[in-house]
Amino acid sequence: MVRRLWFFSWVLLVRLFGCASVEGLGVNWGTMATHKLPPKVVVQMLKDNGIQKVKLFDTDSTTMSALAGSGIEVMVAIPNDQLAVMNDYDRAKAWVRRNVTRYNFNGGVTIKYVGVGNEPFLSSYNGSFLNITLPALQNIQNALNEAGVGDSIKATVPLNADVYNSPESNPVPSAGRFRTDISELMTQIVQFLNKNNAPFTVNIYPFLSLYGNDNFPFDYAFFDGVSNPIDDNGVSYTNVFDANFDTLVSALKAVGLGDMTILVGEVGWPTDGDKNANSNNAYRFYNGLLPRLAGNKGTPLRPGYIEVYLFGLIDEDAKSIAPGNFERHWGIFKYDGQPKYALDLSGQGQNKLLVAAKDVTYLPQKWCKFNPNAGDLSKLGDNINYACTFSDCTALGYGSSCNGLDAQGNASYAFNMYFQVQNQDELSCYFQGLAMVTTQNISQGNCNFMIQIESSSSSLWRPSMVASAFVMVLAFLFL
Ligand SMILES: *[C@@H]1O[C@H](CO)[C@@H](O)[C@H](O)[C@H]1NC(C)=O
Ligand SMILES: *[C@@H]1O[C@H](CO)[C@@H](O)[C@H](O)[C@H]1NC(C)=O
Ligand SMILES: *[C@@H]1O[C@H](CO)[C@@H](O)[C@H](O)[C@H]1NC(C)=O
Ligand SMILES: *[C@@H]1O[C@H](CO)[C@@H](O)[C@H](O)[C@H]1NC(C)=O
Ligand SMILES: *[C@@H]1O[C@H](CO)[C@@H](O)[C@H](O)[C@H]1NC(C)=O
Repeated sequence: MVRRLWFFSWVLLVRLFGCASVEGLGVNWGTMATHKLPPKVVVQMLKDNGIQKVKLFDTDSTTMSALAGSGIEVMVAIPNDQLAVMNDYDRAKAWVRRNVTRYNFNGGVTIKYVGVGNEPFLSSYNGSFLNITLPALQNIQNALNEAGVGDSIKATVPLNADVYNSPESNPVPSAGRFRTDISELMTQIVQFLNKNNAPFTVNIYPFLSLYGNDNFPFDYAFFDGVSNPIDDNGVSYTNVFDANFDTLVSALKAVGLGDMTILVGEVGWPTDGDKNANSNNAYRFYNGLLPRLAGNKGTPLRPGYIEVYLFGLIDEDAKSIAPGNFERHWGIFKYDGQPKYALDLSGQGQNKLLVAAKDVTYLPQKWCKFNPNAGDLSKLGDNINYACTFSDCTALGYGSSCNGLDAQGNASYAFNMYFQVQNQDELSCYFQGLAMVTTQNISQGNCNFMIQIESSSSSLWRPSMVASAFVMVLAFLFL
């Protein structure tokens, strides 16, 4: 009786304070931002929201220090550009010493996985990483084993769902196979993973099924039912997530490893930068996904628990937008750690907001805007392009939150984004006399003219970011 009471009050506490998320739910913590929230603030935010797992894209030491002692389980990662180096076993051992075993102590970081590369077999990489991924994976797992931590820390390769498919002649999950051009390599990889009891990690994006494919049945991207499910030999598929996951299960089955553990490394929905990227759709997606995870519903071929990492935690204003303008808007939190929409991570379907980041400091209430008294407007276009090359103007595009602005509004938006990236430096709000600083909030409707946060590590734009931003300016010119 006492135990039962204790149990019920515990459930009640969890319910009241919402401090628990779906068992095993993780998030991706990417840091491609001009102004990063301090890692300590982010870790507190994870704790406040009951998030027990994070997936990183590197092994940054400040991030790792902030995670130390938190009990949060971590996937650290080796970026694609370091895969070649990891083909040398001594370098792989050094990496494991420096970035894994160093944190392996009481009060250190609970590392569970090492992500070797990030979607290295994407078709758009033209095969650059095909030869070096498996050797890197083998070296890292062998180094983990040699260091005596291989039983609890597993190396895996986060792969995009484009490594498998079903033939066009028979587009059903049960016909899933690894992509023909890499099928031998994929077989070797899954055999190695299996030998080490490591999971297969896959990123699944129903949003991308919709993006750029107006013929895709819209409701099939979500979880609340479709009028004509896909029938696969009597198994009915009502959403693309299940169908995609089971295509992988079939591909694994075809190489004799149908029972291998599958971990979903990334899944999520962006909120800006495309006509389908908005808070309403993100809300619909997550509020379909999370209750299914909480109920261990699984998929038709794999009923039960699935370990899942949401993508992503916080918006990243310096991410490459080569795949699309939505890339900078994947966060379940805005750039400043404010929640965007109701999201119940416990999967109980309660309509509540996430707990916002605490102790966030903002720059002063100052905006940069188009100067209505400017005389010569002939250089306006050039100046907007300049501002957008070095800041994030993705909200201005078609279908995005600031698409409805007039020409002056566009200029103000671009000038302000640049001004904020430059930490409100007065000199950055000049633009050949076309701009001026204001203390009035010039936001319009749904279009927020932001104030940046103060950031200890506010790295300004690096050349590599400029290259990707340049692609965006080109995209604007062709709009
Ligand atoms: C450890 O990881 C960091 C960040 O990902 C990387 O820069 C560094 O080279 C790694 N250390 C070794 C010894 O490989
Ligand atoms: C892949 O090839 C295409 C066409 O040849 C090229 O435009 C692109 O830059 C290449 N990408 C990489 C990552 O090498
Ligand atoms: C990978 O290795 C094969 C055979 O050793 C070679 O023909 C191919 O050019 C290599 N590809 C790359 C991208 O290095
Ligand atoms: C504002 O900028 C967007 C994005 O470049 C463009 O689509 C739109 O036509 C512009 N509006 C005006 C009035 O110039
Ligand atoms: C400016 O106004 C917008 C819309 O009214 C609001 O959402 C935003 O929080 C305001 N910004 C600041 C810094 O007060």
